[in-house]
Formats: sequence, structure tokens, C-alpha cells
Amino acid sequence: MMPAALPPGAPTDIGAAFARINSVTTPTLDDLKIMVLVEAAGLELYGKLAAGTDNTAVAALLQHNGREEMAHAHRVAKAITALSGEDYPPPSANENPYLTAEIPETPLTVEKLRGLALGEVAGDTLYGTWAANIGNEEAARLFRLNGKEELDHAARLHEAAELLEA
Ligand SMILES: [Fe+2]
Ligand SMILES: [Fe+2]
Repeated sequence: MMPAALPPGAPTDIGAAFARINSVTTPTLDDLKIMVLVEAAGLELYGKLAAGTDNTAVAALLQHNGREEMAHAHRVAKAITALSGEDYPPPSANENPYLTAEIPETPLTVEKLRGLALGEVAGDTLYGTWAANIGNEEAARLFRLNGKEELDHAARLHEAAELLEA
């Protein structure tokens, strides 16, 4: 499979891509393309997390989040089109340049779930900042929809943590 093209100067690994995205207050088209790749990777990353537990209710919550991350990637791609007319569709896992490194399988812990929930809340804040600064009504609407769902993700992660603790 041909990997999706990384924008010029984009970080080559997903950790650095997250750091770049989190530092941006007014995203450029290249930042938005990186976000498409990071969000699209979320489906696989949540799937890997879900595979780390035999608690089916916990796994279902994580898989729900993962599906919505791919939906977020599609919304960011729509925002790119609204802003520029350019088509930058979210890649599948085996075409995603941020999923070329082996994802280590680590045991699922309550601490990990609570930590990820903090990241999801930060994701809502980030999308809110982008919505306020992007200067395009359609893109702002799409960013706000994503942000609201990042809060849902945090809630599911806390729910999953409570199920693991029970
Ligand atoms: Fe997301
Ligand atoms: Fe999320």
C-alpha cells in the first residue's frame, strides 16, 4: 500500500506529531493534514488498547472511541476541503505514515485510562481554540463537533477505568 503523503516538514513519528498539533493555535493546512493522520491513527491505537483487556465492556468503550477518532479524521478532511478545495482523505491503518512503527502492547491500567482522559479533555480545548481562530464557519463547526466528542471520549475512559477498578 502507498502511504499517505506527509506534508513537507511534518514530524515523522506520531509522538512528535501529537506534540506539534498540541502547540498550534491557528492551524495551517499542513497542521490539519497532520491532524487527519493522527485522528485516523486513533482507530488503530484504541483498537490495540482494547486488545489489551479481556473485559468486554471496557473493550467496547475503547472501540467506540476509536471509531469516532476515524470520524474526526473525516471531519478534519472536510474542513481542509472547505478551506482550500483540496482532498486529503484519512488513510487506513496500513497506509498511515504514523502507524509504520510497531505499537508496543502494554497492559491496560486504570492510570493509563485516566491519563488518556486528560489528553481527550485537552483535545476538546484544542479544537475549541482552532474553531475560534480558523476564520471559516464550516471548518469551525466541524472542529466543535470533534471537540464535543473528545469530551465523550474522556467520559468513556473514566467509565472504563471504573469498570477495571470494580
Ligand atoms: Fe479525535
Ligand atoms: Fe478522542
